[in-house]
Amino acid sequence: MAGHIFLIGFMGAGKTSVAQALSGACHLRLMEMDEEIEKREERPISRIFEEDGEPYFRDLETRLLKELGTAEQRTVISCGGGVPLRRENVSLMRGSGTVVFLSAGPETIYARVKDAHTRPLLEEDMSIKHIRELLLQRLPAYQAAADLTVPTDHRSVEEICADILSQIG
Ligand code: S3P
Repeated sequence: MAGHIFLIGFMGAGKTSVAQALSGACHLRLMEMDEEIEKREERPISRIFEEDGEPYFRDLETRLLKELGTAEQRTVISCGGGVPLRRENVSLMRGSGTVVFLSAGPETIYARVKDAHTRPLLEEDMSIKHIRELLLQRLPAYQAAADLTVPTDHRSVEEICADILSQIG
């Protein structure tokens, strides 16, 4: 089996939209990790964080990646923004597919996330400054996890998708 395609990157990097477009273009199964976790837990991510805390949520992410490692069907996976922060998650992804980092600058991210209230990590401080700090902290983990990096600033979903396909074939 050809491996899965994992899209990683900060919140608002465009993982969900690009994953949808890629899965459509390649006729592959699509999985949005946050959505899958919410479905299984029967509650939104914000409530999971509130009621059981972030470590509990992170364990759910790891469990899902383990399942994907044994899945028969090749899948495009839109990962939650925190997935590459655990080394175990990175091994699981790299062991079962190609990891694509969708990069974006803090201004782009801010413009994409500012009106949503679904992300507990940005709820307290939705500012470009906070996004920049968090992004800088995470950048090394994203870069280390990635087989390839694709910039998304000022680019359409179609352009990003075509760029990925030209590189992974
Ligand atoms: C998170 C990103 C979110 C979601 C959760 C935590 C993070 O997913 O998993 O709120 O740590 O960056 P998106 O990147 O899909 O917004």
